[in-house]
Amino acid sequence: MTPAEQSRLAAEICRLAPVVPVLVIDDLHHARKLAEALVAGGLPALEVTLRTPVALDAIRMMAEVPGGRVGAGTLMTPADVKAAKAAGATFGVAPGATDRILDACAEYDLPLLPGAATATEIMVLLEKGYTIQKFFPAEQSGGAAFLKSIGAPIPQVKFCPTGGVSLKNARDYLGLANILCVGGSWVAPKDAMMRGDWAAITALAAEAAALR
Ligand code: 3PG
Repeated sequence: MTPAEQSRLAAEICRLAPVVPVLVIDDLHHARKLAEALVAGGLPALEVTLRTPVALDAIRMMAEVPGGRVGAGTLMTPADVKAAKAAGATFGVAPGATDRILDACAEYDLPLLPGAATATEIMVLLEKGYTIQKFFPAEQSGGAAFLKSIGAPIPQVKFCPTGGVSLKNARDYLGLANILCVGGSWVAPKDAMMRGDWAAITALAAEAAALR
């Protein structure tokens, strides 16, 4: 799949809701309930980070939840890309962008949100055809002020900022012309998952879904 086609599909996913939950799943028993709770609250696009041993199995289970669009985050190697696709991920997210990751996403037909945090990184990805990028780590790399500034010379690239984004600052990003959505972990707090308080997670999702 070409970078342009990947970006077209990534844009579709980013436009489903203002927030993409970034999920770290430790207990496979949480996977389905978590996905159902977030989708019920109005957040259909879900990023499951490949940071825990159960992440791929979680993607497999969550991909069956009606209305959800499950992606794999923290893609670090071509093997991650292949495994994510096989597990049913419909998109991928990486903290940065290496040629090996980009080649693997092309080979395995996984629409990628490649990570960038500087003008040069953004331009290199744009030259390759990626017009939708993850801005990471967002707050630490200059936040909404950076994205507003970069939108002047490079308006054709749209972003999903992730990293340090919360209910408090999400609107600062979502108000910008070059932002499609934000990503964040605040909608799925670990303690609520541990308690099995899925209603609380649905409430957080609904609050996030109403951000614009
Ligand atoms: C991540 O990869 O951990 C995401 O950027 C989430 O960051 P957050 O926990 O600050 O929302």
